[in-house]
Amino acid sequence: MYKAPRGTSDVLPEEQRYWEFARRSAFAAAVTYGYRRIDTPTFEDAGLFARSIGEQTDIVEKEVYTLEDRSGDKLTLRPEGTASVCRAYVEHGMHTLPQPVKLYYECAIFRYERPQAGRYREHHQFGIEAIGEQDAAADAEVIDMAWQLYAALGLKDLVLLLNSIGCRKCRPAYLESLRLYYGGHRDRLCADCRRRLERNPLRLLDCKNDSCVPIADGAPHSVEHLCEECSAHFDKLRGYLDALGLAFDVNHRLVRGLDYYTKTVFEIGPRGEGQAQATIGGGGRYDDLVEQLGGRATPAIGFATGIERIVLNLKKQHVDVAEAMSPAVYVAYQGEAGKNEAIRLTAMLRRSGCAAVSAFGERRLKAQLRHADSFGARRVVIIGDSEVEDGAALIKDMKTGEQQKVRLDEVAERLNRS
Ligand code: HAM
Repeated sequence: MYKAPRGTSDVLPEEQRYWEFARRSAFAAAVTYGYRRIDTPTFEDAGLFARSIGEQTDIVEKEVYTLEDRSGDKLTLRPEGTASVCRAYVEHGMHTLPQPVKLYYECAIFRYERPQAGRYREHHQFGIEAIGEQDAAADAEVIDMAWQLYAALGLKDLVLLLNSIGCRKCRPAYLESLRLYYGGHRDRLCADCRRRLERNPLRLLDCKNDSCVPIADGAPHSVEHLCEECSAHFDKLRGYLDALGLAFDVNHRLVRGLDYYTKTVFEIGPRGEGQAQATIGGGGRYDDLVEQLGGRATPAIGFATGIERIVLNLKKQHVDVAEAMSPAVYVAYQGEAGKNEAIRLTAMLRRSGCAAVSAFGERRLKAQLRHADSFGARRVVIIGDSEVEDGAALIKDMKTGEQQKVRLDEVAERLNRS
């Protein structure tokens, strides 16, 4: 028997209400903040992600799904959304539009990870990108939207972690101080970190290995190595977040797992949960990415959140999510003549915009009523032999049990009225 591939899952109908709620809330938030939707392909040229996310990140080194198609092109299933959106920004000359260009997306993301609760090989992200603005107020607005989205979803006890990791001017000196510091602890580092020490020392700060965590705690802080411009940007951002009433913790170990970030980085997750898979959403500024992908120098900031992680937290926090719309009317019948009328009436109800279902086959009336109950139908129309003879139908209110006999040609109007 076939099963869904490891790290993927089916979203069954009974789960859909959580997904719909998450997506609906996210899209509404995006529109409220002035974002417009963009959809990009599921796969891109492999080089796009290596170039933007970074050759020496876990994602590109170990997690991308890359395939060669029949013409020999190397393609990668998107392991995140930002690179694709920036590629589209450059490809379609969006620098000619009023800036910033604010785009949102929701799509499947593929990463070959070790599956566990909250970590999958296929997951879904809702994300926003504001491209073409350097003002720290744009950073504050993106963070505010993320925070307000979680509030609208009813999620509580979240923390906002914030850091600034500088720019190409001030980062090299900071990396040097990290190399120096970590060099003194080389023997206690995990194999991955020892390898990365020379090539990408920033990655050492968020290593989750037990032996590396205490070393990272004592590492130099990026915010103490910022150039004047980055330092002023970070000060302004903190001021704007204060003005918005958003509380945050500056965390010097927050560097994020993608290499394109400059200046601001942030993550939002449940208070007190340290594991990486607990983070619900994260983002940051990526002022060099558009240029790296062949566009002009264009500052930008964005954020993405996993739909699965939102759903996980909605359930964990017992957020009351309304049932997805279920058919309001069930049409039950007895006998062949009743069935004919039921088919006709169900079709008429649907054509008038009323969600209706009817039984098939020859089930007993009792079984049909149970069926109606399982749908959560508010009302059942019953058409039996005697009703057909009278040219009428019974309308039963499933909540009160009240029944009413109504002429067949008036049933649709009556149901649509109340
Ligand atoms: P990211 O932090 O790698 O950022 O992913 C964003 C969110 O996707 C995470 O906070 C988490 O909720 C979810 N997520 C990531 N990996 C998995 C997984 N394996 N299983 C389930 N959920 C997962 C980015 O991808 C950036 N593109 C965000 C961004 C947008 N930065 C600027 N703009």
